[in-house]
Amino acid sequence: MGTHSVQVIAVTGGKGGVGKTSVAVNLAVSLADLGRRVVLLDADLGLANVDIMLGISPKNNLSHVISGELPLESVFVDGPNGIKVVPAGSGTQEMVQLSPLQHAGLINAFSSISHDIDVLIIDTAAGISDTVVCFVKAAVEVLCVVCNEPTSITDAYALIKLLNQDYGVHRFHVLANMIRSQQEGRDLFGKLSKVTDRFLDIALQFTGAIPYDDYMRKAVQRQRAVCEAYPRAKAATAFKALAQKVDAWPLPSTPRGHLEFFVERLVQGAATG
Ligand SMILES: Nc1ncnc2c1ncn2[C@@H]1O[C@H](COP(=O)(O)OP(=O)(O)O)[C@@H](O)[C@H]1O
Ligand SMILES: [Mg+2]
Repeated sequence: MGTHSVQVIAVTGGKGGVGKTSVAVNLAVSLADLGRRVVLLDADLGLANVDIMLGISPKNNLSHVISGELPLESVFVDGPNGIKVVPAGSGTQEMVQLSPLQHAGLINAFSSISHDIDVLIIDTAAGISDTVVCFVKAAVEVLCVVCNEPTSITDAYALIKLLNQDYGVHRFHVLANMIRSQQEGRDLFGKLSKVTDRFLDIALQFTGAIPYDDYMRKAVQRQRAVCEAYPRAKAATAFKALAQKVDAWPLPSTPRGHLEFFVERLVQGAATG
């Protein structure tokens, strides 16, 4: 097994439309700008958002690796700044039924690439389905995207509560998105932490805010990441600052940081989830 630690970050948030995919894509592109080797795993099995946002069309997904049809590298699609995109496909469903040989094959596949990866970013679907929970608890860090809307705050709280009480996740990073002022971002974090502090035993950390920016939608229309298409846009600047923050998060020095163990947790999560 490799000894190289990989930062595994799940981008989640509960509610749809809060900007999870936008954050996952732009964080990936901005971390790549800092020289990190980034893989973006699209775990939103319903809607293939990452493909559409980046104008790429992956033909294969993780299920082809699980079935042994393809090596892991061949399901990577090149995205902007050298990031690699891999769709999860119906991955977790199939992970439940892995034979010991397939299980070992998947771990070997990730083990063989772990030296070429610094960060694995997972874009998750809306809601709190088994699949979402499975990917989030397999990650090392959880980045929860919230907007200043009552439904976003209640959905984020429901997700955090479930992950904490049923799956023992203790640390959450909160990113305020589509905010109109720095104060609004801090207030939003304040609202969420008020309820979590009261009812849960967790560490909730404020990771900053991404402003509301029309260039975000313009970039989607052009099927490009805002950081690449409009690098001077307000949102792009905020994503660069976010990447710098995330890049400074300590890497797990325990086996928890090894990619093989991520796969272990994923497979176990799918089996028990
Ligand atoms: N900071 C922002 N400012 C303006 N529009 C945004 C911002 N973040 C996301 N959006 C837009 O909101 C919509 C939903 O974003 P998306 O990333 O697909 O959300 P999710 O993955 O949570 O469903 C997209 O059209 C996206 O361009
Ligand atoms: Mg999405």
